[in-house]
Amino acid sequence: MDANELQARFPRTSQYDPEWILEMGMGSHPLWMTEWLCQKMDLRPGMRVLDLGCGFAASSVFLAKEFGVQVWATDLWVPATDNWKRIQRVNLADQIIPIHADARSLPFAAEFFDAILAIDCFYYYGTDDLYLNYLVQFVKPGGQLGIGGAGLVQEMPTPVPEHLREFWSQDLWSLHSASWLRRHWERTGLVDIESADTMEDGWRLWIDWQRRKAPNNTPEITAIEGDAGRNITYTRLVARRLPNMTLADYAWPDTLKAVLKDFQPSQDGQHQPTKSESAEGAANSPPST
Ligand SMILES: C[S@@+](CC[C@H](N)C(=O)[O-])C[C@H]1O[C@@H](n2cnc3c(N)ncnc32)[C@H](O)[C@@H]1O
Repeated sequence: MDANELQARFPRTSQYDPEWILEMGMGSHPLWMTEWLCQKMDLRPGMRVLDLGCGFAASSVFLAKEFGVQVWATDLWVPATDNWKRIQRVNLADQIIPIHADARSLPFAAEFFDAILAIDCFYYYGTDDLYLNYLVQFVKPGGQLGIGGAGLVQEMPTPVPEHLREFWSQDLWSLHSASWLRRHWERTGLVDIESADTMEDGWRLWIDWQRRKAPNNTPEITAIEGDAGRNITYTRLVARRLPNMTLADYAWPDTLKAVLKDFQPSQDGQHQPTKSESAEGAANSPPST
């Protein structure tokens, strides 16, 4: 894809230093993906935004600079201290907070965020049937959730097509199509789906980025080139949390779920077992049928 076309498609990204982007990239092109996702999101200055699975926090920097939002740059594999240095280097220490956390055990208050974004990472932790029921608690009712990253045009046929067999490792079974993702969230009734689509010529951009970022990754480049957009692409899903929905908190993946729900400090500062705790874990049990 030539420079003019890239500039037309990603005008905000084209303002950033290509060397800095290369250094900050982990999966797909972090700014193309964030810019594309943000086309469907409503971000305004001062909003609190969770950038979940932020990697080296390139997307967090983009969100802070482009939309004037406050970002909680949260990641599992990248230490918060490393990201803090990256954030300070670009003078965004007052706008981006680095957090080290597992997406299945988040240290945030319910309804804290105005929006949640996940760039090229949701498939690592988010495709469990019950994950939305967990994640959605952290965004205010009416707030948006957006995910964008590697995905499929339609669900992967089986057997996996010959030209993709070498590339298709076991971890890729969590890649899905936009229509799969739409149904996955829509059926819960927890959110209103605002957008579910694939990136135009996503496979070309995938190769373009891989050639810059990891030119020796021949197996991946060959696979995506051979596939030529038949199966592998980038997908985007944007939804808005609906009000007044009841969440099944006992099903949250967080092992600390609801433990201190009825916490009552005693006079001497020692924790007293609550009614639900002393009822042999009844607080964390599924409802009886
Ligand atoms: C392909 S990288 C993408 C990083 C970044 N969003 C980007 O676009 O450059 C995937 C990221 O997902 C994060 N990740 C994987 N599993 C996670 C989990 N359970 N909780 C939080 N982050 C997770 C990893 O730490 C990694 O940074």
